[in-house]
Amino acid sequence: MKIARFETEHFFAQYEFNTPYQLCNSDCETMSIETLLELADVSVTDFTQQTLGYTESQGNPDLRQSIANTYQTCPPENVIVLATPVEGIYLTARALLNPGDEVIVLSPAYDALINMFEHVVGNENVKKWNFHSSDDGWELKIEELTQLLSPKTKMIVVNFPHNPTGYIPSPQIQQEIVAIAEQNNVWLFSDEMYFGLTHEGTTQIPSMADLSPKAIVLSGLSKTYGLPGLRTGWLVVPDDQLIDEYINWKFYTSICSPGPSEFLATAALKIWNELRQRSLTQISSNLQIADEFFRRWPNHFTWNRPLAGSTALVRFHVNSVSQITARLAAEAGVLIQSGKTLGSDDQHMRIGFGRAAFSTALGKFDDWLTDNPKIVENQKQ
Ligand SMILES: Cc1ncc(COP(=O)(O)O)c(C=O)c1O
Repeated sequence: MKIARFETEHFFAQYEFNTPYQLCNSDCETMSIETLLELADVSVTDFTQQTLGYTESQGNPDLRQSIANTYQTCPPENVIVLATPVEGIYLTARALLNPGDEVIVLSPAYDALINMFEHVVGNENVKKWNFHSSDDGWELKIEELTQLLSPKTKMIVVNFPHNPTGYIPSPQIQQEIVAIAEQNNVWLFSDEMYFGLTHEGTTQIPSMADLSPKAIVLSGLSKTYGLPGLRTGWLVVPDDQLIDEYINWKFYTSICSPGPSEFLATAALKIWNELRQRSLTQISSNLQIADEFFRRWPNHFTWNRPLAGSTALVRFHVNSVSQITARLAAEAGVLIQSGKTLGSDDQHMRIGFGRAAFSTALGKFDDWLTDNPKIVENQKQ
């Protein structure tokens, strides 16, 4: 059976490795294996002496313990290590749902968080809980979530901090979401790939895994920890029978995770808080640079400063961000991404703040805008 086109990944496949100045990445600045081992105080020889056999399907026990340690209440038995973070979305849709079940998803969202569920339960059974843009930034309305529930609802899918808007709920709204899931006996699938990236002035919220037995949490090392090339992700699943169901599906996708990645992931988790702080420092500095940029271009953009995460969704006052994207990449080597790829519209762009080269890339974009003063002419301001 066909599945919807994964627009975001097709977009990056087209541009990521041939466009020098990137402004729309969702990951944070990465590092070499050498630097990671050094920071984690792990010897290179220990790494190179690892053997290359199959690994345990649920994940290496030391790695599962290291992951469990990052939560308040999660035993290592509840952790499933994934061969890639995105695999966790596929496995969840497969292990928990049947055609005809209803699922509530956020919109816009990272494509897989909508498309995979539509694929399994049917497009008409996926209900969208939409973000609204307000003067205070992006918002979700709890009453709209309540209205989307039906006796057929099996799962609510959330992602906080949110890609692309940079939204994070207050602790009170988070509690309300948990209460709705529990009272209606539906699973709360919580994508926490950007966990801990909370900006100054925003209240940190706990992992859903520490709040509710109805929560299934996806996280990993790609974003907050700046290690997307390890392809290490994990699920926290609070139910033995479900874990068995998940592992059964995992036998069809990856069987087990790559041993070298498991070793390096265990090293990374020794210093998880340091890696997170490093990403936060980079984002904070890039956000200040972005503040200045958007102050310079008030007729071009409506700047919704993110509360958390590594991305923001910004209104760009042009007819088509996709058309500008193609021109900008060809003429200046600068990459921006239309919100359309993420289920928003072609008048928004996603911007990413995690990379060290952000300032240089934004400078190139600024130069291009200066050279092309007419791009917002006759547009709605
Ligand atoms: C919200 C969200 N979930 C999951 C993923 C998948 O992570 P990975 O690309 O490391 O598999 C991404 C990647 O962009 C994401 O933004």
